[in-house]
Amino acid sequence: MKRLVTAISVAAFVVGAVVPSLVMSSPQYPKGSGDVANGKSIYENGKGSVPACSSCHGQDGTGDDALGTPRIAGQFWVFLRKQLEDYATDKRLDTTMFVMNDNAKGLSAQDRNDVSFYLSTLTTGKADEYKGSDLNALKEQGVEVGLTHKGKTLVEYGQGNRAKPVPSCRACHGYNGRGAPPIYPQIGLQKYVYLVNQLKKWRDGSRTNDPQSQMQKVAKNMTDEDINNAAAYLTNASAYSLGNIMQPYERGY
Ligand code: HEC
Ligand code: HEC
Repeated sequence: MKRLVTAISVAAFVVGAVVPSLVMSSPQYPKGSGDVANGKSIYENGKGSVPACSSCHGQDGTGDDALGTPRIAGQFWVFLRKQLEDYATDKRLDTTMFVMNDNAKGLSAQDRNDVSFYLSTLTTGKADEYKGSDLNALKEQGVEVGLTHKGKTLVEYGQGNRAKPVPSCRACHGYNGRGAPPIYPQIGLQKYVYLVNQLKKWRDGSRTNDPQSQMQKVAKNMTDEDINNAAAYLTNASAYSLGNIMQPYERGY
């Protein structure tokens, strides 16, 4: 009996000591703040000359492949705000619809913060909260779609065994592209067309707002196939699936 008790307390000690470092809760990154009502109003109704964000990003903020718009609902507020600041100062140019630079300039810095914060609160924490792209539907429309199993390998492990190696996306973007704020955005459950577009823009140098050219270096070594494959996997990769040892971020990060 005594031995059993000792064994249990040793086990409890080991579990207590080891598990917290493995099953880390959302890391040490402060939650955002802002005027949610103002952000929601901008998102749904626009402001001044700036049209409603929902008209292109969708009522639910999950983006639209036909327009090439990204999911912005549930993305990290600091990342969204950075993108809006970069559009406002022409550090990032919207070469997809040529609208985001004007949209960002039409809002004040406070508005840009508020709409970013509002969007970051739009997460339910459920595995199926966002739908990625419907790859079969895209194929039927003639869009070139990659292979998810090859994409998974690239996302998880990269391709080290070639003249132009590609690092794993996971190294920076985390498991299934769950993201790591403030620097690394969620790329899992992102729209396929947007993912492909951005990777090509990093590769050809038409998007250059990444810190230390981190993404440009990655994308320069990616082939068209790599890009399609990674995007095909990521668009339906949920942070809530098995294999993620970290808790996905909650609302408002
Ligand atoms: C007319 C269509 C349109 C409207 C309206 C619009 N967007 Fe966009 N948005 C786009 C497109 C297209 C892109 C991708 C641009 C690119 O390739 O750089 C984009 C990109 C973005 C991004 C970058 C996201 C990322 O993951 O890097 C943010 C943030 C964003 N929009 C926020 C907004 C907000 C906030 C509003 C409302 C104030 C808004 N958008 C209104 C079309 C639109
Ligand atoms: C060395 C770190 C690093 C690695 C490895 C990396 N990324 Fe990134 N990625 C970044 C950073 C940093 C950004 C944010 C850039 C910014 O601030 O605009 C980013 C942004 C992106 C974006 C744009 C997201 C958006 O919403 O605008 C895509 C798409 C992307 N990465 C895909 C990938 C893929 C696919 C891989 C693996 C093949 C990968 N990344 C590997 C650092 C990395």
